[in-house]
Amino acid sequence: MHTNKIWLLFLGIFFIATSMSYAQGLKDLMPERLTIGAALGAAYYAGNDTLYRQVLAREFNEVVAENELKWYQLQPLPGVWDFSKADSLVAFAGRNGMRLHGHVLVWHQGLPNWLQQGNFTRSQMLGLLKTHIDTVLKRYRGSFASFDVVNEAFDDQPNGSYRRSIWFNTIGRDYLDSAFVYAHRADPSLKLYYNDYNIEWINAKSDSVRLRLNQMRQRGVPVHGVGFQGHFILNLNNGFLNSLRQNLNRFAQAGYEIRYSEVDIRIPAPTTQAKLLTQGRDYSNLLRISLANNAVKSFTLWGFTDRYSWIPGFFSGFDDALIFDRNYQPKPAYDSLRAVLQTITHLPTGQHELSSATKKAIGLTPLQAKTWLSQQTKPWRLVNLQGKTIVSNQKTPNPIETLKPGLYWFIEEGREGGAVRLLVE
Ligand code: G3I
Repeated sequence: MHTNKIWLLFLGIFFIATSMSYAQGLKDLMPERLTIGAALGAAYYAGNDTLYRQVLAREFNEVVAENELKWYQLQPLPGVWDFSKADSLVAFAGRNGMRLHGHVLVWHQGLPNWLQQGNFTRSQMLGLLKTHIDTVLKRYRGSFASFDVVNEAFDDQPNGSYRRSIWFNTIGRDYLDSAFVYAHRADPSLKLYYNDYNIEWINAKSDSVRLRLNQMRQRGVPVHGVGFQGHFILNLNNGFLNSLRQNLNRFAQAGYEIRYSEVDIRIPAPTTQAKLLTQGRDYSNLLRISLANNAVKSFTLWGFTDRYSWIPGFFSGFDDALIFDRNYQPKPAYDSLRAVLQTITHLPTGQHELSSATKKAIGLTPLQAKTWLSQQTKPWRLVNLQGKTIVSNQKTPNPIETLKPGLYWFIEEGREGGAVRLLVE
């Protein structure tokens, strides 16, 4: 009993110390190119949970509304608009210098009854869709950096079939094209995303979604980015992580921006310390993959504390999917994210884009990396995450043969601020 008391005392001191030592949040450790975000839920609007807003503002530099920008909230009745919560979100983000991502203009869920039961014709539905998009995007023009235009439009069937939603059934498969075109006309500065789950790794669904989006682009439809929701189950093994990397690379090489848009990693009950440590490893591996590919613009969690998460209500027998526990204490997942970020060398600000050739140098095998590096003519050096120069073409002999797998910065001399992460796998 005596030992337990000492252990509890130590844990108490540890948690007080660690929570106090987190004066600097995750957002302060993120490289410039990548934001760390969280879905902001009903607890924010209730306003009686001060820790919720405190932790959110300290740790994240991007927010997205979990539900408050869905049709049922914004247009509860035809032509009757309620922007109160959305305005509150925009104001909160503005006060805290946070990037705003919008979710969601077209989805088969989160729809008000009047729309679902209206029996509208195709042209009426297109008119309602255009009015909704115009009204929302013109109201918030300049506030949002990006928006989920369409969410989950394709079935989980391998043949890439369209989900038989009210949008598909009433308008037809071209409702996606219309939504993106309406959004682009309403706010040409906005980055427009397609968002979905189970397309994060190489599989029949990600194959077909990539094909459909490429076809849309070939028709001139402005699809700028893809949201990989990232609702994962504990224990992301190496094969799965490699598939995540390869899938991310193929969407990136096709020119899409990427957001890990709704990340949570659910734990099968009972939650144990060992499972929490595994969850930490999973989160850190996912962040490493995001850091290694310049196409990834956001690493956003679907919530941030286990106190408010959709998981237990939706997936029976699973819980504790986020990075803070119910008392806002950092979990091993939080500490693992910090550990990854603290290994990143922060290059001087004012990074500028390097030549497109350099951007390709991501996610390479050691042989590919050596070949690519040996083709670089300008003076360059390769530094590790501690900022130590590993190889350079200004030194002879150039020990390029010794290059080991890892995450590096490729820096062209004279363009110190610009760099590309080189993940040698
Ligand atoms: O606010 C009402 C409350 O007044 C009422 O008493 C209660 C019971 O009916 O419902 C409450 O609204 C619920 C809302 O969440 C707020 O908690 C809705 O019924 C419920 O359907 C809604 O679920 C949300 C779900 O999307 C559907 O919109 C989840 O919170 C939200 O996490 C989930 O998020 C989705 C993304 O938008 C898209 N990707 C998948 C992700 C998980 O499903």
